[in-house]
Amino acid sequence: MNFLQQYEAYRTHFEEYLQNQCAGMTFEPPVLAESMRYSLLSGGKRVRPVLFFSALEAFGLSYRGEEGLAFALECIHTYSLIHDDLPAMDNDDFRRGRPSNHKMFGEANAILAGDALLSYAFDRLLQECGRDGRHLRAAQALSKAAGAEGMVSGQSFDLLYSNATGDEQALLTIYRNKTGRLIAAPVQMAAILAGNEPDPATKYGLALGALFQMTDDILDEVGSKDALGKTVGKDAQEGKLTAVKVYGLQGARKQADTLTRKCHEILHTMKGADVQFLDEMTDYVRGRDR
Ligand code: IPE
Ligand code: IPE
Ligand code: MG
Ligand code: MG
Ligand code: MG
Repeated sequence: MNFLQQYEAYRTHFEEYLQNQCAGMTFEPPVLAESMRYSLLSGGKRVRPVLFFSALEAFGLSYRGEEGLAFALECIHTYSLIHDDLPAMDNDDFRRGRPSNHKMFGEANAILAGDALLSYAFDRLLQECGRDGRHLRAAQALSKAAGAEGMVSGQSFDLLYSNATGDEQALLTIYRNKTGRLIAAPVQMAAILAGNEPDPATKYGLALGALFQMTDDILDEVGSKDALGKTVGKDAQEGKLTAVKVYGLQGARKQADTLTRKCHEILHTMKGADVQFLDEMTDYVRGRDR
């Protein structure tokens, strides 16, 4: 299997699991379940679950039976997108090729869909914690990555530096937290489940997360709405501190190449792991158009 076929195999496995979970969401009133399902099933790339499954395999474990942690992670990521798009935050009308959650269900319902997805993720994490000590530690890593020491802190920094002066250091703080932590979490969790030293895995994940946000910033400038499924040109409009703002477009591309090399270097320090897919994943993130 080549890289894209393998990506598709992981993605499809996750997608089937997600469909089943969503079919069981019979919350009341129906608008709540509907709005949660609308965003969950709207066809994201599923990068984080794919990273989790592939990292488990890289460390010699099977991903079958570990779908619960991937599901919790995708619920947290999806809630972060719903809230990120709200008028009070980035004010984006499109997401994953469709109207944003608040455009479909209204702002108040979108806030609640996000709240419910976050709580649902923690309900699932608590179940995972009961399996053994490694699952407990993996769940703890994800909970830290999601909240005030991770993604939420990054979103707060993102707001702080909107329409304000910020330097490279500020940009890297935003990247590490708003995106890096939830991209690193699956690789970190896989290392914990495998009983490996989680540091190199986390370092790789943070570098990949920075690369992921850098390509996101570049695509906001030069990408297409059709491919991305979201509005382009919004970062400049909202005065966001992005790689393009700090380095210029060409400079941002160079930084992305440097980060790509850094990811490969870290992967190659991970002796005993089969890192081929993660190597190719790095290049996929650098070259993505969606
Ligand atoms: C978008 O994440 C938000 C960022 C962290 C840049 P993704 O690009 O992974 O979004 P989906 O899940 O594929 O829609
Ligand atoms: C996303 O950053 C960070 C999140 C935690 C959701 P962006 O605001 O750049 O993501 P997009 O471009 O809206 O997907
Ligand atoms: Mg944002
Ligand atoms: Mg946004
Ligand atoms: Mg963006």
